[in-house]
Amino acid sequence: MADAVMSATPNSPRLQQQIAALAAISEAPAPVVTRVLFSEADLRGRAFVKKLCREAGLTLREDAVGNLFARWEGKNPRLPAVATGSHIDAIPNAGAYDGVVGVLGGLEAIRSLKEAGIEPERSIELIVFTAEEPTRFGIGCLGSRLLSGTLSEDRVAALRDRDGHPLDYWRGRAGFAGSLSGVALARDGYSAFVELHIEQGPCLEQENLAIGIVEKIAAPATLTLELTGVGGHAGAVLMPGRQDALLAGAEIALSVEQSALNSGSPDTVGTTGVFRIEPGAVNSIPCRARLEIDLRDTQIDTRDATLSRIEAAIKSICERRKIEFKLERLNVDAPAICDSGIVEMISHACAELGLKHRKMISRAYHDSLFMAQVCPTSMIFIPCRGGVSHRPDEYSSPEQIRDGVEVLTRTLAQLAGRA
Ligand code: GLV
Ligand code: MN
Ligand code: MN
Repeated sequence: MADAVMSATPNSPRLQQQIAALAAISEAPAPVVTRVLFSEADLRGRAFVKKLCREAGLTLREDAVGNLFARWEGKNPRLPAVATGSHIDAIPNAGAYDGVVGVLGGLEAIRSLKEAGIEPERSIELIVFTAEEPTRFGIGCLGSRLLSGTLSEDRVAALRDRDGHPLDYWRGRAGFAGSLSGVALARDGYSAFVELHIEQGPCLEQENLAIGIVEKIAAPATLTLELTGVGGHAGAVLMPGRQDALLAGAEIALSVEQSALNSGSPDTVGTTGVFRIEPGAVNSIPCRARLEIDLRDTQIDTRDATLSRIEAAIKSICERRKIEFKLERLNVDAPAICDSGIVEMISHACAELGLKHRKMISRAYHDSLFMAQVCPTSMIFIPCRGGVSHRPDEYSSPEQIRDGVEVLTRTLAQLAGRA
């Protein structure tokens, strides 16, 4: 089998052509890629990927939230399968590579193993996760959270988009129905999960490395905050005693920055990524504001202490400014520790291919954060230009992508070959 695996090389032009074709499926003109969960572009993107999977001879299954599983049956189909994959949804004003490299690169890895005539012991599955990005419902990794069984049906039922629509509304439009209780995976459902992804940071490029091997994924938390003050005429209401929801929000956003800066950990990052006000008229005092706050750290204790400090600041700012507030912890996740055996396997594949590599932490979250709760998991990172991501100018070269796919191919072959 070893010789056959060596001959399993990705078809880089084919993969590049497919990445470009998927990038063209967007809610916004090129080079912007926007594919928000269950938008028309997301559905067309899913149809495109399903067509490629069928052409590759894979068997498709979708669950009630739209997670897609494309299976290559192994010689011993009763053994738990090995899985790879990522997401194709893209935040507004994104680029072509976040998530997509793991989906189309994962498919290319499977295709190249098939084309090399390899017959794995274990089945290999490509998973395309629903809504890794939090755009529609504010919560990231919706599909993989449900697969890991860590998101209750009650919490899902409470999710609303900015127009007040629940997930069921969007599931119905996308053609997915049925109870979400069946989405959670059995703990022995997969023997391993490996996700290929762009680094989304500058380290690999700066250190001239081809591959990063993820040992730990930082712990994310999201707060949602509704502020209600008192609106009024911008000319007629004098300054003393105003209850301006925007100004409370502005102070809160600054306190998020200060809390993260002063957490005692250089790894704490805090972002107020959503700040919407009503009524949004230049001559009207803002009466309402909605903020969504993203807080992360590699250490759960400093993350949690910072979270508590931010919550205390929200309370005191709102009391002082006489603003009513509704604060919710949308998600407070633990970090994921990756499987040391898979990390070593990836490291071995890099050494065989002569690729410079090192172990690293993922500061972005990924579906792997939740797959790590289901089975042994790790990630393969490739460099991206300038560390840029979540922007239209996000870029990894064909060679960088091919290197990542080759490492993935060998890792999958080894994981699937051991009966
Ligand atoms: C994923 O997109 C993240 O925000 O880390
Ligand atoms: Mn992303
Ligand atoms: Mn991603």
